[in-house]
Amino acid sequence: MNFDLLEKDRKYIWHPYTQMKDYEKEYPVLIEKGEGCRLYDHEGNVYYDTISSWWCNVHGHNHPYIQSAIKKQLSELDHVLFAGFTHKNAILLAEKLVQCSPENLSKVFYSDNGSTSCEVALKMSFQFWKNTGQPKKEKFIGLENGYHGDTIGAMSVGGDSVFNQTFAPLLFPAFKVPSPYCYRCPCAKKRETCAIECVDPLEKLLNKHSNEIAGIILEPLMQGAGGFIIYPVEYLKRVAKLADAYNIHLIVDEVATGFGRTGKMFAVEHAGVKPDFMCLSKGITNGTLPLAATLTTDEIYDAFYADYTQNKTFYHGHTYTANPLSTAAGFASLELFKKEKTLENAAAKIATFHRVIQKFREIPIVGDVRYIGMVAAFELVRNRQTKKPFSFEDRIGLSVYKKGLKNGLILRPLGNVIYLFLPFCVTEEELMDITDRTYSVLTSLAV
Ligand SMILES: Cc1ncc(COP(=O)(O)O)c(C=O)c1O
Repeated sequence: MNFDLLEKDRKYIWHPYTQMKDYEKEYPVLIEKGEGCRLYDHEGNVYYDTISSWWCNVHGHNHPYIQSAIKKQLSELDHVLFAGFTHKNAILLAEKLVQCSPENLSKVFYSDNGSTSCEVALKMSFQFWKNTGQPKKEKFIGLENGYHGDTIGAMSVGGDSVFNQTFAPLLFPAFKVPSPYCYRCPCAKKRETCAIECVDPLEKLLNKHSNEIAGIILEPLMQGAGGFIIYPVEYLKRVAKLADAYNIHLIVDEVATGFGRTGKMFAVEHAGVKPDFMCLSKGITNGTLPLAATLTTDEIYDAFYADYTQNKTFYHGHTYTANPLSTAAGFASLELFKKEKTLENAAAKIATFHRVIQKFREIPIVGDVRYIGMVAAFELVRNRQTKKPFSFEDRIGLSVYKKGLKNGLILRPLGNVIYLFLPFCVTEEELMDITDRTYSVLTSLAV
């Protein structure tokens, strides 16, 4: 074991989302190499990266095509500011993003992480109404269990959770509507017979307050960090219809769902929905370099397009906006979707994946099995009849994480929800191996 290096980690580093005291007894895993869907630690142990390194990896680690695009770019231009200057990769990637996204989206605003892609959408929406003479439309609607990042604005529109509860006094007020959480239905209905009544509170809210509401933000079809709540297409369609009817913006946060993860390039395609804003990051560069983008429409763009003295400019930007290396990676990653027929080839794999995870229903502590595209989630419960969850103190997720490592899997549960968030490079054989190992992790838990 490389104790020197790990001791320095302990001495100098404060890791994200981590109770550092947990590292008193053990070290984080020191990863040295990545290839395809595998990561290798400094002792030669091999792990399946079943969570795509925080949901970023799409085509596999260290894909040679993306590597060479980055190397080529590095030999030409490392970075340049993006106000008053531009460069080839940013332009070509923007063109590609517009071409592969819903047809009404025509403009790309770059930033560098998922939270900022959402902040940008919120601020643009807010200013749109000011610029177009409807200044009272200042509020936003978010969903319970929604997650849009850790900056103040993104937290404000996210659902209440352990992530943001400490910061509640700092957050701006936002309306929250129930989450379409079928397993724990907010309306106590069954999906087979329900009429998506969980959308009714949104309609009531809009009826009363739409003249003060700028927009609604949601993760289309899958609330990720809120517990991998995968919800009906019909819900998204209804929200989109209401947003249109009540003249508020529809902001879709595709940071996690974008770039094929749900089986289509973007989750909104399942519902044929045309958002006013689409927020992208994570998979955009295959997880190689930080990049984000907020896509929007001509209508929004035109509301900012005016003589300078009218003060309609969008004053927002980040130093690393549209970094040339990141945009080179993004462009190469999008090209790969075509070159390798990523989504076309995924269909059979996705069908196998959905078939093999059905056996997880046999595990007594698995209360719910949910899935879409390359994502599957298992909600663990103390009692299947009552759906009683494991408590915060049980830290069931920690046991799964540790057992996962012993079984060659990188699993990072979200509370009581264990999930597989797989890259497209996974073969059917690897897929079977990953699900078998995950199954044995869950069946071997001493609870
Ligand atoms: C749907 C969604 N939006 C936004 C974010 C925030 O992205 P980042 O961590 O890059 O700021 C995440 C991160 O998990 C996410 O899942």
